[in-house]
Amino acid sequence: MGFFKLSQAFFSTAMLAFLLYVFLRLLFSCWILPIRAYRKIKKNGFGGPTPSFPMGNIREMKNTSSKININYSSLGSSVISHDIHSTVFPYFARWQKSHGKVFIYWLGTEPFLYIAEPEFLRKMSSGVLGKSWGKSNVFKHDRKPMFGSGLVMVEGDDWVRHRHVITPAFSPPNLKAMARLMVEPAAKMLERWATLINSGKPEIDVEREITTMAGEIIARTGFGLSYQNGSKVYEKLRAMQITLFNSNRYVGVPFSKWICPKKTLEAKKLGREIDQLLLSIIDNRRKSWDGSPQIDLLGFLMEGNRVDGRVGKSLTAREIVDECKTFFFAGHETTALALTWTLLLLAMHPDWQSQLREEIRQVIGDEEIDYTSLAGLKKMGWVMNEVLRLYSPAPNAQRQAREDIKVDNLVIPNGTNMWIDVVAMHHDPAIWGDDVNEFRPERFKDDHLYGGCKHKMGFLPFGFGGRMCIGRNLTMMEYKVVLTLMLTRFSFSLSSSYRHSPSILLSLRPRYGLPLIVQPL
Ligand code: HEM
Ligand SMILES: *[C@@H]1O[C@H](CO)[C@@H](O)[C@H](O)[C@H]1NC(C)=O
Ligand SMILES: *[C@@H]1O[C@H](CO)[C@@H](O)[C@H](O)[C@H]1NC(C)=O
Ligand SMILES: *[C@@H]1O[C@H](CO)[C@@H](O)[C@H](O)[C@H]1NC(C)=O
Ligand SMILES: *[C@@H]1O[C@H](CO)[C@@H](O)[C@H](O)[C@H]1NC(C)=O
Ligand SMILES: *[C@@H]1O[C@H](CO)[C@@H](O)[C@H](O)[C@H]1NC(C)=O
Repeated sequence: MGFFKLSQAFFSTAMLAFLLYVFLRLLFSCWILPIRAYRKIKKNGFGGPTPSFPMGNIREMKNTSSKININYSSLGSSVISHDIHSTVFPYFARWQKSHGKVFIYWLGTEPFLYIAEPEFLRKMSSGVLGKSWGKSNVFKHDRKPMFGSGLVMVEGDDWVRHRHVITPAFSPPNLKAMARLMVEPAAKMLERWATLINSGKPEIDVEREITTMAGEIIARTGFGLSYQNGSKVYEKLRAMQITLFNSNRYVGVPFSKWICPKKTLEAKKLGREIDQLLLSIIDNRRKSWDGSPQIDLLGFLMEGNRVDGRVGKSLTAREIVDECKTFFFAGHETTALALTWTLLLLAMHPDWQSQLREEIRQVIGDEEIDYTSLAGLKKMGWVMNEVLRLYSPAPNAQRQAREDIKVDNLVIPNGTNMWIDVVAMHHDPAIWGDDVNEFRPERFKDDHLYGGCKHKMGFLPFGFGGRMCIGRNLTMMEYKVVLTLMLTRFSFSLSSSYRHSPSILLSLRPRYGLPLIVQPL
């Protein structure tokens, strides 16, 4: 009896001590550490909205965004303004008014440094190598099923190795080989449109159509859709995207990963199945490769591995799997959105449709589309840049400091998250001039890289520094191939059912799709 009581007392004390320990740990990591980080940044003179515990500024962000979106969408299609910053990021637009273009805000218990000032960005990034940048830990959980430890996510020496192995896969000769793979999915889509128009339905939601097509293109150029199991991978990747879509709502809030356990589990399961299928594709290719030239990224990666196959210089099969997933998620929606927004702007500016058609006639004529001839489509290049400026599919760039970073006499402490507001900079009259919100592709005529922007860090559709998008030449090619095919067959005008509501759903998308009236030429 006495012994029993004693042990009971012992256990409850132990239990109590354990609970106390857990509580203190929680208090420390969710409360004291963030406060300490906050003080440190604050000491350096950065301002910002006052956070609350445990949501930080998230509630305020949700509040403003829902209100504005409702009003905006009720405007109807008669008003299409390209002045979108205050509608897609209402909270940032508001905070900018009281705190300037550089300030701190909080996602849950994680402090973020907001940056919409190109000169600050230049100074900050000039001293940091690509390999020394981190990608925000708080987003890693959400993005793990999508990117694994692919190029978007890796850091440090691993990033150097991945980037080194992958870069040659995007070399001009390889891109040239991939151009052919793009024509067929595009032609298939245009056939479908022709059928729809013939059956009396000229109004087509081009956003959905183009996204599907771009998924097919990236599956072909990425890992070979036509291979057995290739289309299964593609379907599962699409399913995973739909599952994850919209589920990263409480980033930074402690334990938020437990809020949607079902989605998390489902995404994990899909992730495992995709990995299995891709591994089997890699395995089969390795066994059956007969030396014939590769035509997709997976092939180039495997070939590169073989040539440069020293230890520490190549990727493992697992890593290649993650890169294939990364290409899919980083590559198809962004490209699709660039094309989608282009069709909106061309529908609003028929004169540019004619100009591009004329250019296509002169440069391509009746020839087959070829990588080399695409370079001659100069005006199309301006249009692409102008669209990426006004409706940047990647609306922001993210970083996390992995060391203290000095900017003039300020210090951004190790561990600080950074959120670079690309939309704000692309719409800032201070660096672009008063016509900042007008569609004027000719601004890229004499300055094809920066479009006359006063600051070289003011135009960042593909990010900046060593971690800039690796797929931008592939995207440029895909954009030109697909747009050329579309413009030579059809003309586009706005549909009265289009509601202009650019929104952030991971990327910058038209919330209600993009219905257009499509007519054969
Ligand atoms: C219009 C289309 C595209 C846009 C707007 C875009 C935009 C971006 C941006 C903003 C970044 C982040 C850069 C940074 O943090 O500084 C990025 C990185 C990346 N993109 Fe793209 N991208 C596009 C197409 C593609 C395509 C087609 C692929 C691959 C097939 C691709 C693969 C990647 C990869 C692997 C990274 C990570 C690079 C690294 O961290 O080293 N992207 N992209
Ligand atoms: C959110 O909006 C509601 C009503 O619109 C208001 O009562 C509340 O105080 C707002 N919360 C924040 C954090 O702004
Ligand atoms: C949105 O519209 C409603 C009426 O349609 C109006 O009462 C409200 O004040 C508007 N909100 C904003 C933020 O403009
Ligand atoms: C397809 O995947 C299954 C397992 O899901 C595997 O057994 C089969 O060998 C794969 N086929 C090819 C051609 O990769
Ligand atoms: C930055 O912080 C991380 C974790 O807090 C630590 O592991 C790392 O060594 C720090 N880096 C530097 C350069 O101090
Ligand atoms: C894209 O192509 C240009 C010129 O053809 C080259 O200078 C640049 O390095 C390429 N970029 C990437 C990311 O491969």
